[in-house]
Amino acid sequence: MPNDLTPPSDAFAKSAHIDAETYEKMYAASVADPEAFWAEHGQRVDWIKPFTVVRSTSFAPGNIDIKWFEDGTLNVAANCIDRHLATRADQTAIIWEPDDPNDAAKHITYAELHRETCKMANILEDMGVRKGDRVVIYLPMIPEAAYAMLACARIGAIHSIVFAGFSPDALGARINGCDAKVLITADYAPRGGRQTPLKSNADAALLNVLHDCKVLVVRRTGGQITWMEGRDHDYAELRLEADDHTPAAEMAAEDPLFILYTSGSTGQPKGVVHTTGGYLVYASMTHAYTFDYHDGDIFWCTADVGWVTGHSYIVYGPLANGATTLMFEGVPTYPDAGRFWAVCEKHKVNQFYTAPTAIRALMGQGDEFVTKYDLSDLKLLGSVGEPINPEAWNWYNTVVGGGRCPIVDTWWQTETGGHLITPLPGAIATKPGSATKPFFGVQPVVLDAHSGTEITSTEAEGVLCLKDSWPGQMRTVWGDHERFEKTYFSDYKGYYFSGDGCRRDADGYYWITGRVDDVINVSGHRMGTAEVESALVAHAKVAEAAVVGYPHQIKGQGIYAYVTLMNGVEPSDDLRKELESWVRTEIGPIAKPDLIQWAPGLPKTRSGKIMRRILRKIAENDYGALGDTSTLADPSVVDNLIENRANKG
Ligand code: WT7
Repeated sequence: MPNDLTPPSDAFAKSAHIDAETYEKMYAASVADPEAFWAEHGQRVDWIKPFTVVRSTSFAPGNIDIKWFEDGTLNVAANCIDRHLATRADQTAIIWEPDDPNDAAKHITYAELHRETCKMANILEDMGVRKGDRVVIYLPMIPEAAYAMLACARIGAIHSIVFAGFSPDALGARINGCDAKVLITADYAPRGGRQTPLKSNADAALLNVLHDCKVLVVRRTGGQITWMEGRDHDYAELRLEADDHTPAAEMAAEDPLFILYTSGSTGQPKGVVHTTGGYLVYASMTHAYTFDYHDGDIFWCTADVGWVTGHSYIVYGPLANGATTLMFEGVPTYPDAGRFWAVCEKHKVNQFYTAPTAIRALMGQGDEFVTKYDLSDLKLLGSVGEPINPEAWNWYNTVVGGGRCPIVDTWWQTETGGHLITPLPGAIATKPGSATKPFFGVQPVVLDAHSGTEITSTEAEGVLCLKDSWPGQMRTVWGDHERFEKTYFSDYKGYYFSGDGCRRDADGYYWITGRVDDVINVSGHRMGTAEVESALVAHAKVAEAAVVGYPHQIKGQGIYAYVTLMNGVEPSDDLRKELESWVRTEIGPIAKPDLIQWAPGLPKTRSGKIMRRILRKIAENDYGALGDTSTLADPSVVDNLIENRANKG
């Protein structure tokens, strides 16, 4: 079954931007002569000063240096807005669907988007923001989030969005990490009928920020907030006076566009840096081709702008292409499990892009939630964030897509800026669970995990690396280029290491098998086990903690925490709840452990290293495969852990 090939229908292939033959030709050209290929496709954005150098990229040890279109200049906001005004001023740029279906949706035209972005840019300038300064955005999914991103891009400020589900501590760490001059937030974030108090979270976060950081507050609900005169600025009030013609700054292609913090296998989240020219070329090109976006289509990516998916496929990619992009404030299950499909019907969505975890959750609620809506405008379905299991794929295909919509399973990462491995829907036959083939210019390789050598046979299994750069690649870790090299280029020299394992089948199709490092993928969101561990051990009653992933029906992976308590502290259900809410406040709800096991001891080598391999196996309920335990300092620890596995079943 998993190897079933579903080719694009003739009708789809015929009207698609890229058919099978074009894909083969363009892909071959893109790797045979990348300079020529990207010189041509670099033209899909408007340059103020055209580039003459296509790229200078090096993955060489000690000299990791990635530049695309480096002597060109451009402005991202001008590309996403101004250049469309002549032909699309009255076209809807953003459809905003609020959390509560009884509230009115908004249709924001390109002309309006231009005015609002200019006003926001003008407000930021008045607050002292200059080219190169950092602005942290902590907002609900409201149009102002897009205005804020584009306003930063317009004046050359670097934005860093923090997902509204993150805690005050996580927000504070990110404000400090990039030394932000301004924080843009809202009073409250409505989501699924509940409200997150963003402003009070921001107030708490700023207690840990020692440098001067002003706050711009959007009133989303009008709910009560506290106000600090001098620091806090009222967006609604400033907007009335703000100029709606703020010039777009001329930016170098390699000037940073944004920083986005993401979890890794060690330490604190790192600030992934994306720059201006290459990122925009790549985001817009993948948006057009992967989703086969055509003029006039309504495109909906259900992600939050707090993740890279929202950056590339709600805002930058679609708007650079003059698209109509839908922005949804709510959740898939509010007011009921039919919300996604109600919104698809209501706004006549043509391309729909979501995560497997949402599909699995909705699949369990019954088909009636889908079938009662008219989904005949849907032409294509997309998946992102984790491997999609064939069962979910088939349900998505038949029940949601009516068997007529190609499914694009897009593999990529915060670091990659845009899709790297994905079917192009008019060109590539799909297989449930496979991300299929590389995008143009992308050269995936499968390395043997131990020797680091490239497996050249078509069929291969190992770690997934990239042999060469692509324009959307991250350029550095904010403030720590060494960490950039260490994280991505040091395990396998000369390659970009993705952190994922993969298999290449006899047809040359790629199957992502999941992270091979200490990162877990919870509902398509990345969580570093080290981060959760350090949150746990920060609790006074916890002596030691080890966190691993385990298979979870809905989330893909769940968070499994082994906790050793301080001497004299007794385990209890209350303490379990206390630790859960502790982690929620330290990091955010997405980091809350799904299972906590009290562990009197952890399996360690004689040199004191925790053997996570064993902990993973126990969490997976896979005791037959514990492997060699003879190097453990105290092998009996393992028996105790097996005996007491949480939620044993
Ligand atoms: C990790 C990146 C980039 C979008 C959202 C997540 C996993 C992502 C797929 C897919 C299998 C996938 C990988 C990757 N992943 N897409 N289609 N099939 N796995 O971004 O938080 O940077 O996470 O998500 O493990 O490394 P992210």
